[in-house]
Amino acid sequence: MRPKQIKDQALIIFGASGDLTYRKLIPAVFDLYKQKSLPQNFAVLGVARSPFTDDTFRDKMKDGIRKFSSTKDITDEEINTFCQMLFYLSINTDEGKDYSELKDRLELLDKENNTAGNYIFYLSTPPAMYPLIPKFLAEQGLNKEDGNFRRVIIEKPFGTSLKSAIELNASLREDYDEDQIYRIDHYLGKETVQNMLVTRFANGIYEPLWNRNYIHHVEITAAESIGVENRGSYYDHSGAMRDMVQNHLLQLLALVAMEPPMAIGSEAIRNEKLKVFQALRPLSDEDLFKNVLRGQYTASNIKGKYTKGYREEKDIAPDSRTETYLAMKLYIDNWRWGDVPFYVRTGKCLPTRVSEIVIHFKPAPQKLFPETVDFRNDDNQLVIRIQPDEGLLLKTKMKVPGSGYQVKTVNMDFHYSQLQDTYLPEAYERLLLDCMTGDSTLYIRGDALEATWKFVQPVLDFWDKNPDAPLHGYPAGSWGPASADDLIEEENLTWRYPCKNLSDDGIYCEL
Ligand code: BG6
Repeated sequence: MRPKQIKDQALIIFGASGDLTYRKLIPAVFDLYKQKSLPQNFAVLGVARSPFTDDTFRDKMKDGIRKFSSTKDITDEEINTFCQMLFYLSINTDEGKDYSELKDRLELLDKENNTAGNYIFYLSTPPAMYPLIPKFLAEQGLNKEDGNFRRVIIEKPFGTSLKSAIELNASLREDYDEDQIYRIDHYLGKETVQNMLVTRFANGIYEPLWNRNYIHHVEITAAESIGVENRGSYYDHSGAMRDMVQNHLLQLLALVAMEPPMAIGSEAIRNEKLKVFQALRPLSDEDLFKNVLRGQYTASNIKGKYTKGYREEKDIAPDSRTETYLAMKLYIDNWRWGDVPFYVRTGKCLPTRVSEIVIHFKPAPQKLFPETVDFRNDDNQLVIRIQPDEGLLLKTKMKVPGSGYQVKTVNMDFHYSQLQDTYLPEAYERLLLDCMTGDSTLYIRGDALEATWKFVQPVLDFWDKNPDAPLHGYPAGSWGPASADDLIEEENLTWRYPCKNLSDDGIYCEL
């Protein structure tokens, strides 16, 4: 249903000839159209250097919609009607003077499509363009709100270091107010990520336990089975820290760890998240050696098929020391979390694609029943599964029927897929709609962004200064370096390995 507060508007996508537009953005806008959420008068203007016309752009997007839309059973007629809202302008986006053409085209669009001078500018371009495009727009007055709105959505990576993030923020703020800037992190658009707020704050049973008195440790994992694919030239300069940890994983951490907000509103929620980042214990020199572990995948056989090592991938330096795996132990120094370790890990070419948060509760203080299983598998856990098979799993103990008191851990399991007729929107769908309605709750505020960079920067500096710092190889298809379990000091405790893996090479492998 169309949100009441949504105004007529145009979405202008820079980098419209690229992959993100084709795979994610236009399919998401189409899904919004199918859900009847778009404004009454709406248009998309794709902007890029490639010489498309309106028609050739539409043809390409039709293909993207068919392949990537989450809507089932789409008819050709629906796609054709939707694509009438798509337009294309080819300009040199790095030439300020070409933006007058854009301004003219937008005025025409307003006239012909009643888009009312309300614009969202989506920067889906190489990051080098992030400071330039908003400036060129401002030179044409396209940043000025005069009874209408002008918003800019910026994709990640927002900066490549603390310094560059601060500079980019400062450059944007010369021409735009903070509430015009939408820094996107697609993890925040995932339904299960947002559900964390509801699980924590709509239930009376979790919050009293959600602290250092009852929680032993927390694990946050974003594992991917794919490698770098064709993104080598970007990834080799990025690595897992910049690609996943500084943004997606720290955002998850903030939602797990934040205090209840005063209200469900953008400022209240974002204030609480910022406090978590500010309370992250800075990593000491010892932590950099002991509590941060990086790895890189090496060639292996997965299900009998040869899989390339990272250094053999396209556009990767043959002696690259970029991390494709990162595991860290960190602490949040406040009353709620004092001395509770948070273990965070991510990696490419791991056995499976799974993102989950595991809250490990402390064991019962009195050992009344015979211990049957070691502490590792035996503790109460709440597993918040973000993807795939979204859901919530509580591991709890139960008596095995029969004589005596034999105790067994069982699963209380909820899967989103059990909800009949419930439509799970894609992350981009939700986030685009939020920006269209002016709700920035699920976007990153500038101060929080800088706070996350501030936390990770010492690690990046340490690797820069010590290129020989250990980088552990792990066979593609395995769960990363063996020593990752050593980060968890407690005897008998390991990371959770959520499903069977398929590599027949190296450690942690199950055939
Ligand atoms: C992106 C990273 O931000 O997130 C990719 O650049 C990564 O490297 C992707 O693959 C993971 O997103 P998701 O939604 O598939 O978990």
